[in-house]
Amino acid sequence: MTTTHVDGYLRHIMAVCAEDRSGSVADYIPELARVDPDGYGLSLCVHDGHVYSEGDGVVGFTIQSISKALTYALLLTRIGRDEVDAKIGVEPSGEAFNEISVDDNRRPKNPMINAGAIMATSLLLPPVRDVDQATVDRVYGELVEFYSACAGRRLTLDEDVYRSEAQTGSRNRAIAYMLDSFGVLDTDPEAALDLYYRQCSLLVTTVDLSVIGATFANGGLNPRTGRQVLAQEVAQRVLSVMTTCGMYDGAGDWVSSVGLPAKSGVGGGILAILPGQLGIGVYSPRLDRHGNSVRGIDTCRHLSTDLGLHMF
Ligand code: DON
Repeated sequence: MTTTHVDGYLRHIMAVCAEDRSGSVADYIPELARVDPDGYGLSLCVHDGHVYSEGDGVVGFTIQSISKALTYALLLTRIGRDEVDAKIGVEPSGEAFNEISVDDNRRPKNPMINAGAIMATSLLLPPVRDVDQATVDRVYGELVEFYSACAGRRLTLDEDVYRSEAQTGSRNRAIAYMLDSFGVLDTDPEAALDLYYRQCSLLVTTVDLSVIGATFANGGLNPRTGRQVLAQEVAQRVLSVMTTCGMYDGAGDWVSSVGLPAKSGVGGGILAILPGQLGIGVYSPRLDRHGNSVRGIDTCRHLSTDLGLHMF
């Protein structure tokens, strides 16, 4: 397909999917409810780094749970797979993203649900009970550095969403303190939560998501900057866990119909990846009951069927 054909095709499927106005914008974090419910963007980054983008491709939205895949990658890079596996499982939970649960070994079931993601942020922090703000700031700085290297540009924080998230985070606090009460959290629960809220509140565009996706698709090499930002085996592990756990209790339906590793966020973004080929970023903030973007899923279904992207 030529560039004009791809652009025309993307516009076409967006026009089809835009007719669906079902679902609702997340409002359990008050600041998230302020977005335009009709916002809709789609970007594809292919193996040579070229980005095709239509609609609101440069509109910023918070990354939310898509961050879980990136933090998992950073943690695997830092402490290695064995240490990570001792603390966080890789089994699909079949539960909601914010379920208060662990497996038989008192590990969060996987890194794509909140319990696993909060455990992951805790493991980036020093294993001491009293973590000062300067330390949280330093680790946050390293995390932003890594996310930015994957996106190929400097990402910034949505301060309002971050504050709103921290003020209304009772469920996440319950999860962190559950892990603490089980004796499996080695650091200060409040510091782990603060880092988690901040990572969720980073602003991205669909162009960013597509480049992040292409970086993972390319075995960790960002095709736009030419920088190897993570190891090939880390990218492979993250993609595997995204395939089985990235879409929460909607993961089975997603894998059978779309057939791509993916991660969604309640900000309305979806990151989907065809290993070895391309990264897809889609944004539309109306969500289904699992917390996944309705139009985002539909758009990916069209792409997968029409372009033969299903991996199986
Ligand atoms: O933990 C939370 O509530 C959010 N900051 C992230 C949740 C999220 O994006 C779930 N994804 N669909």
